[in-house]
Amino acid sequence: MAQALFSPFKIGKLTLAHRIVMAPLTRMRAAQPGNIPQSINVDYYRQRASKGGLIITEGSQISPMAQGMPATPGIHSSAQIEGWKAVVDAVHEKEGIIFLQLWHVGRISHSSMLSGNLPIAPSSIVAPGKAFTATFERMPFETPRALETEEIPAIVEEYALAAKNAKQAGFDGVEIHAANGYLLEQFLHSSSNQRTDQYGGSIENRCRIVLDIAAVVCEVFGADRVGIRLSPYGIANGSSEEDPMTLYDYLIKQLAALNLAYLHLIEPRASGAGQEEVNHQNVPLSSELFRAIWPNTLIAAGNYKPDTASAAVEAKQVDAVAFGRLFIANPDLPKRVEKGAPLNAYNRATFYGGGTEGYTDYPTLEQVK
Ligand SMILES: Cc1cc2nc3c(=O)[nH]c(=O)nc-3n(C[C@H](O)[C@H](O)[C@H](O)COP(=O)(O)O)c2cc1C
Repeated sequence: MAQALFSPFKIGKLTLAHRIVMAPLTRMRAAQPGNIPQSINVDYYRQRASKGGLIITEGSQISPMAQGMPATPGIHSSAQIEGWKAVVDAVHEKEGIIFLQLWHVGRISHSSMLSGNLPIAPSSIVAPGKAFTATFERMPFETPRALETEEIPAIVEEYALAAKNAKQAGFDGVEIHAANGYLLEQFLHSSSNQRTDQYGGSIENRCRIVLDIAAVVCEVFGADRVGIRLSPYGIANGSSEEDPMTLYDYLIKQLAALNLAYLHLIEPRASGAGQEEVNHQNVPLSSELFRAIWPNTLIAAGNYKPDTASAAVEAKQVDAVAFGRLFIANPDLPKRVEKGAPLNAYNRATFYGGGTEGYTDYPTLEQVK
C-alpha cells in the first residue's frame, strides 16, 4: 500500500529512504526554567525516528524575544544546545535525519513571556485572537512594537547564530519557518507590514528579510542543508495577503536562486490545523501552483492521508509529504503506512503542554498486539 512513498529521494546531498516526513509540531514540553529540551523530548523524537526518515523539529525560538508560547524549546543558550544534542543523537542512533525549525513568532506572543517587553513586529498592528501567556492562560494579543530599521540586521544575525547553534548540536540541517502568521510571514504580508523603509511596501521589500535570513543561514549550513516553510494563501494567526500569487512567485524564484535544498509548503486547506480541526474549501492547492517554479525538493503538508500522499508523489506533484497530527498519534507512522496497518487517533486535548500523556504513550503496532 502507498508504494510510491517508499522510494528514496534527495534533500541536497542527503538521501532519504522514504517520503513520509515528520512535520514540525510544537508540543510545549521543554524543561523549565530555560526552555531546554529534556529526556521526555528525547524519547518522543526517538520513538518517531526511522531509518532514512526525515524529522523536522518543532519550531524553536532563535532568541528570547522570538518565543510565543510557554515551554517551547529554544536554540539560543548553551543548555538548549546540549538538550538538543541528546535529541539529535537519539535520532541518529536510529539512522534518522533531523532538521531543526528556526522560529521567530513576532507579534504572536505576550509580554508575560518576554520579560515584560511588548512583542515585536514589522508594524504596530495587533493580531486577532488570543495569545498564550507565560502561565498557559489565554489573553487577547497585545499591540506589538514596530521594529526600527536599524534593528532588523540584528534579527538576521540572530538567525545566523541560531543556525550555528543547531550545527553545534549536530542537526543535519535547518528549516526556516516563514509560514503560519509568524514574524517572517508578518513581513511578507501587506496586512501586517505597512513599513515605509526597505523592508516594507513593494514585494521586493517585504521579501527582503526572508531572503537575507536565507542567505546567512545558507552560509552557516550550506544551501544543500537548508529548507524553508511557506504557507501561501494561509490564514493562520490572522495572516492575510491581498496578492499571494505575485508575492510567492517572486519569493520562491528568489529562494530557488539561492538553491535551498527544499521548499516545504503548507496546503491552505489545513491552515490553522494547530488550533482546530480544519478543512478549508475552495482554496488553491499550493503544491500544484508552485511546483513548476521550484527546481529542488518539494515537501507538502496539510490534511494528507497515506493514500492521497502516495497519489501526490506518484503524480510528481510533490517529492515527499509531511504529516503532523498523524505523526503525533503514530510514533511508527512510516511502518504502519508501509504495512497498511490501522492508525491511532490523536487526542487534541494533549497537543500542547503537559508530560508524557498524549506525548510518548501512543502505542506502536508491536505494543498494540
Ligand atoms: C499541535 C501542532 C503543533 C504545530 N506546530 C507547528 C510548528 O511548530 N511549526 C510549524 O511550521 N507548523 C506547526 N504545525 C502545523 C503542522 O506542521 C502541519 O502543517 C499541520 O498540522 C497540517 O498537517 P496535518 O494535516 O498532517 O496535521 C503544528 C500543528 C499542530 C497540530
